[in-house]
Amino acid sequence: MKFDTPAGQNPIDQLKVVGKPTDRIDGKYKTTGTAAYAYERHDVAANQAYGYVLGAGIAKGRIRGIDTASAKRAPGVLAIVTTLDTPRLGRGRMNAAYLFGGDAIQHYHQAIAVVVAETFEQARAASFLVRVDYAPEAGRFDLAAEAPSAPPAPGDSGEGSGHDGVERVGDFEGAFAKAPVTLDETYTTADETHAMMEPHATVAAWDGDKLTLWTSNQMIAWHKGSMAQILGIPAENVRVDSPYVGGGFGGKLFVRSDAVLAALAAKAARRPVKVALTRPLIANNTTHRPATIQRVRLGATKDAIITAIAHESTSGNLPEGRPETAVDQTKLFYAGANRLTAMKLAHLDLPEGNAMRAPGEAPGLMALEIAMDEMAEKLGLDPVEFRIRNDTQVDPNKPERPFSHRNLVGCLTLGAEKFEWARRKSMPGQVRDGHWLVGLGMAAGFRNNLLMKSGARVRLDRAGTVTVETDMTDIGTGSYTIIAQTAAEMMGVPLERVVVRLGDSDFPASAGSGGQWGANNATAGVYAACVKMREAVAQRLGINSADAVFAEGEVRSGNRAVPLGEAAAQGPLSAEDSIEYGDLSKKQQQSTFASHFVEVGVDVDTAEVRVRRMLAVCAAGRILNPKSARSQVIGAMTMGVGAALMEGLSVDKKRGFFVNHDLATYEVPVHADIPHQDVVFLDEVDAMSSPMKAKGVGELGLCGVGAAIANAVYNATGVRVRDYPITLDKLLDRMPDAA
Ligand code: MOS
Repeated sequence: MKFDTPAGQNPIDQLKVVGKPTDRIDGKYKTTGTAAYAYERHDVAANQAYGYVLGAGIAKGRIRGIDTASAKRAPGVLAIVTTLDTPRLGRGRMNAAYLFGGDAIQHYHQAIAVVVAETFEQARAASFLVRVDYAPEAGRFDLAAEAPSAPPAPGDSGEGSGHDGVERVGDFEGAFAKAPVTLDETYTTADETHAMMEPHATVAAWDGDKLTLWTSNQMIAWHKGSMAQILGIPAENVRVDSPYVGGGFGGKLFVRSDAVLAALAAKAARRPVKVALTRPLIANNTTHRPATIQRVRLGATKDAIITAIAHESTSGNLPEGRPETAVDQTKLFYAGANRLTAMKLAHLDLPEGNAMRAPGEAPGLMALEIAMDEMAEKLGLDPVEFRIRNDTQVDPNKPERPFSHRNLVGCLTLGAEKFEWARRKSMPGQVRDGHWLVGLGMAAGFRNNLLMKSGARVRLDRAGTVTVETDMTDIGTGSYTIIAQTAAEMMGVPLERVVVRLGDSDFPASAGSGGQWGANNATAGVYAACVKMREAVAQRLGINSADAVFAEGEVRSGNRAVPLGEAAAQGPLSAEDSIEYGDLSKKQQQSTFASHFVEVGVDVDTAEVRVRRMLAVCAAGRILNPKSARSQVIGAMTMGVGAALMEGLSVDKKRGFFVNHDLATYEVPVHADIPHQDVVFLDEVDAMSSPMKAKGVGELGLCGVGAAIANAVYNATGVRVRDYPITLDKLLDRMPDAA
């Protein structure tokens, strides 16, 4: 189905099932431990052996030799594959680092061997006996040191934010010089690790030259293609299956070493092999969100109209890696005639930087939205009002291009009302509650909405059961449920009559899970397949499909009503289609909008920051399932608390690795850190996005949160921290005197 004109009235608009707050249909499997994750797929292949990955102990250099003699003699060892056994393998989609093969070391904990044994413990014990002879070389590990000489770099996040090295509109420098009120500040964000609950894991089995991978991955079709490319085998010989994914956040968008090494190990051991990356390998063997140094300059008239806006960001990566696109939203977010956005990329020999939830916008808004708070204060204006005054309904770079639907102002005004923002004291450091200094902060959120081709197959049996098959993944987001809701709405059956099967590369290729594009596109693909199924049903029943009404398990036409299953009486029906997009998203800018409001308490003596209340108001088109959408947003808000207050990979600048590579030392928020969260969705539809009229929320919920917290900390204490995470050491010696 081609979607190239705005959606009109369609069966989804009935909202009998879609749009209802619905429990996850896979929830019972997850809460009873019967949803099998990759490493637990014991039943899929007999005689599985265990592979243990050995990571490089240097950050840069060469391997002169690997001595596996004593490891091979260790109990239970079946095979050892080292990186010297194969030339450097090709790279899969979007990988900057090479995953395996050859003697060159690009980064610390690059995979250099996999030891295969009968048990995990035997494989791990034997790995300690592998002797590696390194020839280390000096590397570059310090972003701040490399930033001054970093060249301009174009690049995109792979998730919708893309940018030339330097983009200009009007005359920024001239307008900034003339502006009566200006701000020029620099902000830094930290390297972050995805810290998803389920580590990367794969079971691999060969049947002749056919490879099956039971893995944990967000993008099944990409994974299949990339594995074929890396191993140099035809794509049709690769099957990938990933029905449950315990979190990805961008860390599982692409093939990682667990899949490559499981495949190589299974070949060497001549039996199925399972490989999981240990927690330390997730920080240093996989990818991370790169740290940034961002300079924001704002110039405004005395009545708070922005006339000049500049946002420049420097990040680092491996030589073939891309920049963090932290300036991207600044092209679209606020009005202003004179604009400059620019990115620079420093060469670093740290592990690969790549997409992490809302790549670009998440760290970009952490800077821009503090700058907006600082500027509002300089202008003597409420920060909510400052943002409203500088709203735009068109792409400021191309004013002939409107937003398809933009209600940022609605998010701001409703949020301010619900949060009782008027109670905020504009002078910081004024509110005490016992030993807490209390402050309110807010920020605006922005994330683009991406349209991606997505396919699905629908089957109908004589019992009237509708089965949906697509390679779409559910990474903890609720894909199973919204897909079932879509099929139920389209086919006029209760939710219980829909079976959803996901994550198998033998199913039609979907949009996959990334860039908050999964929900709208994957359900639109199911919509397309259901339209075909409705036609097939009508044809079988001899009904004109335009007159057919699908409701309450029946197909109705005139005064005839037939149980849906009767269409499959002579044999099951199957229909397959995909949603494919025209250029609607080129003519109009599709984005999602939010406001975030936060109350914090800061301990007057210790400067410990505690979040007390959070509110997000989101404008993201039709909300397909308010319950799972809310879960997405509160999860993202929680991640925003992490980014603002605690998360940061510590770089060993001498040896070149992330030191705090486990969950004991890389802190993420826990329940005790998050006392109260509210989420409100504006009631809206966007007919430009798809027949579902929905957009994404999974990343929007993160965008702006960090700055709202930073602004609340400032409001509480009068201390402005521009260097994330805002740990108490950055506040302590600047705290106001405790009265
Ligand atoms: Mo993307 S960082 O996988 O949502």
